[in-house]
Amino acid sequence: MLGTLRPGSTLVIATHNEGKVRELAELFAPLGIATLSAGALGLKEPEETGDSFAENAKIKAEAATAGSGMLAVADDSGLEVTALGGAPGIHSARWGGPNKDFSLAMERINRELEALGTADRRANFVCALALAQPAGETLVFTGKVDGTLVWPPRGTRGFGYDPIFVPEGYTETFGEMDPELKNDLSHRMRAFEKLMLATYADGDDA
Ligand code: IMP
Repeated sequence: MLGTLRPGSTLVIATHNEGKVRELAELFAPLGIATLSAGALGLKEPEETGDSFAENAKIKAEAATAGSGMLAVADDSGLEVTALGGAPGIHSARWGGPNKDFSLAMERINRELEALGTADRRANFVCALALAQPAGETLVFTGKVDGTLVWPPRGTRGFGYDPIFVPEGYTETFGEMDPELKNDLSHRMRAFEKLMLATYADGDDA
């Protein structure tokens, strides 16, 4: 596996979500790995029929590899709210509705927590990253970041549920935080580090 990714590799990022394309491209670029988005290649998005982040990431990465013949990485991620039994979870994107309006999704979370009358505002983001290979098995790695939810939303950086999520040990939401700091501690970075540890070899150890 070590050496599957190396400086000079090109990867398809199997998502049409601009926020994820940007964050993943920024993680791979310093290692000399170029990225192309599935959208730019005109690849269709498969249906996410899995019942876990890992399965959905695998479905998306394998569809992009099948459509392009290239190595592809897919991210399936979302927000799990403890008092809501882990919702929206793998349905995080769908809670934004057909227009992917995350202010509505954040309002729904707040409404459901208020209806429960709970003071429990614990939540975590999860990310599964799948690397599909044209001739080889698909590898999946997961990362998680714990935190608490605030209301009302704060900050205009990031995407999705970032304005209501404060990571443990910090006071700013992901929506307020410097994007470099978010990238350093995010669920996506934690999954990315595991992926790199298992698959990346630079010129020295390849
Ligand atoms: P997916 O494309 O099905 O994986 O959708 C994941 C959804 O989870 C996104 O549309 C976002 O709403 C949410 N999400 C995942 N990662 C993040 C993040 O880093 N910040 C904010 N929201 C996120």
